[in-house]
Amino acid sequence: MRDFQTKYSDHILTVTLSRPKALNALNLELLEGLRGIIQELYQNNDTKGLILTGDGDKAFVAGADIKEITSLTPDQAHELSKRGQELFKLIENCPKPVIAAVNGFALGGGCELAMACHIRIATENAKFGQPEVTLGLIPGYGGTQRLPQLIGRGKALELMLTADMISAQEAKALGLVNHVVSNKDDLMDLADAIMKKIIANAPGAITKIIRSVNAGYEFENAGYESEAENFAACTETEDFKEGTNAFIQKKKPNFTGK
Ligand code: CAA
Repeated sequence: MRDFQTKYSDHILTVTLSRPKALNALNLELLEGLRGIIQELYQNNDTKGLILTGDGDKAFVAGADIKEITSLTPDQAHELSKRGQELFKLIENCPKPVIAAVNGFALGGGCELAMACHIRIATENAKFGQPEVTLGLIPGYGGTQRLPQLIGRGKALELMLTADMISAQEAKALGLVNHVVSNKDDLMDLADAIMKKIIANAPGAITKIIRSVNAGYEFENAGYESEAENFAACTETEDFKEGTNAFIQKKKPNFTGK
């Protein structure tokens, strides 16, 4: 597949998302390609775990592809949010462990993708954030639900409302990432070492832990629907057009509240 590099060794599949010119932003093609990889992971008896990373040193994933979402109608935006949420739930509920190896920017949909994985590790230069408000938008792939789960409601609200980006060390202090290492080689080595330790354990027990932990959060399903509705509602506003066009034209947005 064009936008993915894959490596398979010792029952571990490593997938690198690769659209380096757009900092690996998630366009529809990448989302659907990832869905195919995850579905295959559910079926394939040989593969015991998945490591997800981004191409290059600069970005894991810089979010949904802003150039693609700028012209969405509310119905299309609702559909996109539901599709993204569904894919990220497929990752979260995967019966095999999924580790996000975050090698740079993990913003918007990129932070949401990392949060859908079971474990996150990062390089020193990684940066995390949900900058959607700067586009007149809100997170649409589960960020409004998973960020509060992982770091607590107060800090999650601060990050989403300010659009602040945090460093890997801050993310570690907040519990958003488990480990921080100095460079990409160390990152991939650590991801491999953690994965090998996990898959040496009983596969059935691993699956049952993932299932049991996720069962504790099922009450949050209404939150996901609310997120999709509010994500869609943003696309009706002038501020959304202003925010996304300002990003594309590399200028500051002038929000009016309309
Ligand atoms: N979508 C599309 N293109 C993107 C992108 C994105 N999310 N992020 C970066 N790019 C593109 C830029 O447009 C630029 O392309 P050109 O060279 O053609 O101009 C290229 O990648 C390099 O980016 P920058 O020149 O901006 O690099 P930088 O080092 O100056 O800044 C950055 C890096 C801070 C990550 C900045 O690119 C940025 O802020 N990106 C957008 C982050 C963002 O807002 N993400 C949220 C998206 S919305 C979302 O994800 C909704 C959801 O929840 C589903």
